[in-house]
Amino acid sequence: LLIQSAEAQCKYQHEKKIIMGFSQIGAESAWRAANTDSIKAEAEKRKDCFELKFSDAQQKQENQIKAIRSFIAQGVDVIAFSPVVESGWEPVLQEAKKAGIPVILSDRAVDVQDESLWVTFMGSDFVEEGRRSAKWLVENYEKVKREDKSMDEVNIVELVGTVGSAPANDRYEGFREVLKDYPNFKILATQSADFTRAGGKQVMEAFLKAHGDKIDVVYGHNDDSALGAIQAIEEAGFKPGKDIIIVSIDAVRGAFEAMVEGKLNCTVECSPLLGPQMFDAAEDLMQGKKIPRRIVTQEGVFPMEVAEEVLPTRKY
Ligand code: AHR
Repeated sequence: LLIQSAEAQCKYQHEKKIIMGFSQIGAESAWRAANTDSIKAEAEKRKDCFELKFSDAQQKQENQIKAIRSFIAQGVDVIAFSPVVESGWEPVLQEAKKAGIPVILSDRAVDVQDESLWVTFMGSDFVEEGRRSAKWLVENYEKVKREDKSMDEVNIVELVGTVGSAPANDRYEGFREVLKDYPNFKILATQSADFTRAGGKQVMEAFLKAHGDKIDVVYGHNDDSALGAIQAIEEAGFKPGKDIIIVSIDAVRGAFEAMVEGKLNCTVECSPLLGPQMFDAAEDLMQGKKIPRRIVTQEGVFPMEVAEEVLPTRKY
């Protein structure tokens, strides 16, 4: 009996349901919530041919390792996960390989010696997102800065993502790669806000206490941390988006709303809508088809001027 009803959204007909174990990082940001929704919605669409075992690791690598081990013990057909940090995956991925279970990396990369431990990696180019943030800044700062602020020294504070995570490492690197040619743009302080709103607020409060009006720019590794920083800036009596220029990454609805209010200057897109391609890849794998090693998400850059027009079209 072949499983496929009229409403099924499966790519192929399968003789039995594909069991996919997915280990999600947690729920640290609006981006992550949208990513979880995308995966669950896709599983629901393809429920005639997939069974999804979803596990939330609450931002802890040890929980992800436990979840992966449990998927192996349950004999799932495919494992997909979004690794919270880059290192420390070799042993558990060796166990998956030994059990003959293919592994799909979704959103974030791992740092392993043995490249055969995963079959495909789908998600954004985080280094490029860092570069895009810096490019927007160097190209637009003069136009958006407060009149009395100088171009001789532009002081930036950076809200880094989760320590050891691929997006934090890469966005740190990409941003600096561009800024090295603009010595007047200086990184005054850099600290992890853990990709959360609460973290962004707390770290920004400390930055403001230490540097006050010296801060010209906030670079947030994600929108949530920038939105937290906006709160801290307002509470300190400054105008976000005017006294302090803010650029961050993700392009979630909250960032567009802040741009419409004039409080955030630019957001660089990082799409969480990875569900469809993840399930496509799993189906292809089960069919024995060759799939690309790397699937890069196509993304844009949204400055404040376009926020009002674009906001109604945002899907996350
Ligand atoms: O891995 C993607 C990053 O993780 C997003 O930029 C951030 O918002 C999320 O928590």
